[in-house]
Amino acid sequence: MADWTTSSNEALTISLVRPTEDKASLGEEESYEKFNPTFTYPIYGEEEKIYGYEGLTIDLRFASGSLASYLSVNYSAKLPSTSTVDDVEGTLSQFIPPDYLTDEAAFLAQVEQDGTAFKPSGQLIHSYVRLSPLAAANGKGKAAANTQQPLDSEDENAVVYEVYHTTWDTPGFREYHRRMQLFILLYIEGGSYINEEEDSWEFVVLYEKRKRRSTPGTSTYHFVGYSSLYPFFHFPESVRLRLSQFVILPPYQRQGHGSELYNAIYNYVLSQPTITELTVEDPAEAFEDLRDRNDLRMLLLHEVFISEAFGADTLSHGGGRVGGVGRAGRSGKGGVSKNASGKMGPPVDKLWAENWRKKLKIAGRQFQRLVEILILSKLD
Ligand code: ACO
Repeated sequence: MADWTTSSNEALTISLVRPTEDKASLGEEESYEKFNPTFTYPIYGEEEKIYGYEGLTIDLRFASGSLASYLSVNYSAKLPSTSTVDDVEGTLSQFIPPDYLTDEAAFLAQVEQDGTAFKPSGQLIHSYVRLSPLAAANGKGKAAANTQQPLDSEDENAVVYEVYHTTWDTPGFREYHRRMQLFILLYIEGGSYINEEEDSWEFVVLYEKRKRRSTPGTSTYHFVGYSSLYPFFHFPESVRLRLSQFVILPPYQRQGHGSELYNAIYNYVLSQPTITELTVEDPAEAFEDLRDRNDLRMLLLHEVFISEAFGADTLSHGGGRVGGVGRAGRSGKGGVSKNASGKMGPPVDKLWAENWRKKLKIAGRQFQRLVEILILSKLD
């Protein structure tokens, strides 16, 4: 006997649908399949269970660039409608814009149309190039991957990624945000929708950019992830920028895209004279890890900082190692020369540290933590 209860995390599947031409140019490794949410409790309740159906599937698809959506709820059996049977579509529809499609053919036509028409809005603030996952899987371009040479964006195995900065005033962005904000509920524990009435929100959105082979000189864009940022104004005219939400969609996770997006935000902060500090709101553990790794990498590659911190001889003695520990992270293995002496002590020269913290625009607690990690790596 069925118990008429379904896990909402398992029933709901998300897919990112690309236009036919893009699909054809991708191999299996890259034609992103369906994936599941991590959380659905904000939508279907604390238990993450849906009652009243057998064989329930909730098929939520997004056009990979424009995020135009399609929703189809299917089941093999449903209990006679009573007040205890959950309204699957009615509940989900409260969290997505009302213009979602339920006609598959209409959705696929939209995907094709958006493939040519959709362009990211906002200001391009960062781009980087990666070997296409398909080429990497096939062993192509290995030479390029193995050398430290950056991959040329014109290389046939290269994929370009672009980060755009937006505000509510960016044309079309408010509507776009209404489509992408669902990912905050589905992937960030304790995540909730931000208030559109608060004017100051800023965003950075990451896209994969693919050349259209049929129309040279044009590209298609595919959503990868985004972050929302909130500026807190301080007298007289400085700003502390708080990173509030940050998500990379599952098919793109653990490939360094989160790090690129985070570094794009950090470099944006450094480039803005009015912003004095980047802070993070209630970071999840995985995000803290990402932040530590990237902040440490930045510090270890900062020659002036490292030589002042550990003594001028650090770089000449341990220079190669300093450069090479970028990915060492918390363990800090292979840090800096043991015998070096500098402002990092211990004890740390507090005034010196505070000057650097301000210069690097890192939040107080985070800077302290980084200093501690560096000291431990020195004592290792
Ligand atoms: N658990 C622990 N550490 C992780 C995880 C994870 N799930 N994902 C990434 N990291 C760490 C690892 O140390 C990784 O180093 P590695 O390359 O040696 O594995 C490092 O972060 C960098 O990894 P990236 O590939 O650059 O990170 P990714 O693109 O996967 O993005 C992120 C990481 C943002 C946490 C992504 O997995 C995600 O969006 N998760 C779901 C949403 C979420 O938790 N967002 C953060 C909420 S906190 C906030 O919004 C302020």
